[in-house]
Amino acid sequence: MQVMVKWGILGPGKIAHAFAEDLVRTQGAVLAAVASRDYQKALDFGARYHLTRCYGSYDALAFDSEVDVVYIATPHAFHKAHTLMCLQAGKAVLCEKPMGLGREEAEDMIQMAATKKVFLMEAMWTRFIPATKELLSLIARKEIGEITRISADFGFKTNYLPESRLFNKSLGGGSLLDIGIYPIYLSHLLLGKPLHCEAKARMAPTGVDNHLECTLYYPNSCRTECISSFEEDTPLEAVIEGTRGNITLHRRFHHAQKLSIWKADGETRELTREYIGNGYSFEIEEVNRCLENGWTESPAHPLQTTLDVMETIDRIKAQIGLDYT
Ligand SMILES: NC(=O)c1ccc[n+]([C@@H]2O[C@H](COP(=O)([O-])OP(=O)(O)OC[C@H]3O[C@@H](n4cnc5c(N)ncnc54)[C@H](OP(=O)(O)O)[C@@H]3O)[C@@H](O)[C@H]2O)c1
Repeated sequence: MQVMVKWGILGPGKIAHAFAEDLVRTQGAVLAAVASRDYQKALDFGARYHLTRCYGSYDALAFDSEVDVVYIATPHAFHKAHTLMCLQAGKAVLCEKPMGLGREEAEDMIQMAATKKVFLMEAMWTRFIPATKELLSLIARKEIGEITRISADFGFKTNYLPESRLFNKSLGGGSLLDIGIYPIYLSHLLLGKPLHCEAKARMAPTGVDNHLECTLYYPNSCRTECISSFEEDTPLEAVIEGTRGNITLHRRFHHAQKLSIWKADGETRELTREYIGNGYSFEIEEVNRCLENGWTESPAHPLQTTLDVMETIDRIKAQIGLDYT
């Protein structure tokens, strides 16, 4: 009989709903509980997904013995505190991206997971999307030769609302942490840690970045150009150029369903990797797989990658004068 992994959701906001919709359709997973700071909100969320275990405080979820793993879905600034609370209570954790406001916070969470010997993973869902897996296999087979340049953008035009999660510094606002992390992650996934980076940004009046452009530099003149923006709608594509061709991850590249390959010898190919749902079931399956095997981290999205990405993010923050302390 298949083991059912029992999930709890902490912070039932926007992303928690999209995640829950996928979770209830994912084999081997059961949505068991939810916690909000507002009990009525937890009850409303629970009613929608047929949950009986609804809590009006986050720590009640952390101590629920009927829950195996907690999905942390609060704004970035609280990822560390909420993750530590769940890990300390012995719960496995899937923490929304970014895993903290910088490398130091991620390190604290990783340290606690190691001390408690429990599973921890950043919810970098891009890693588990079928199109990303296809991309990795194309790159490994050297279909486009050696990578020479990557460009990826993630921008959408949004109204400036100083109190909103996107702009409020005390909630961890700014395009870098919210969406810039995706182009930066793609670069780490394909090329690893950069040698150095150059970044420039336009800041919002709240002191967080409203528009960011950065280049990550690698050996042999290889580089990644990243854009994140709350000022403009960008194509949301990633292009990976190689010595023998290029691959495009089509709009919205971070959970693409279509890739195209163009090769210098004239061959072109379009690949479709469609999926049902919002795209979160693949990371849920990965967490289930890790828990079933008794692993404390995912081999596909190891904690070291999270640390490396956070280190790059810290370097960019320093260059653009973005400071959350
Ligand atoms: N993977 C993805 O595709 C994706 C997409 C969007 C966002 N995200 C990530 O998910 C996280 C949450 O984003 P979201 O857009 O879902 O956020 P949100 O709706 O603004 O907030 C999520 C929940 O956090 C809780 N919360 C706790 N302390 C809070 C505070 N001081 N202020 C506001 N809310 C607080 C609230 O729940 P209660 O009041 O009910 O406790 C709220 O409903 C972010 O870190 C973001 O990076 C990921």
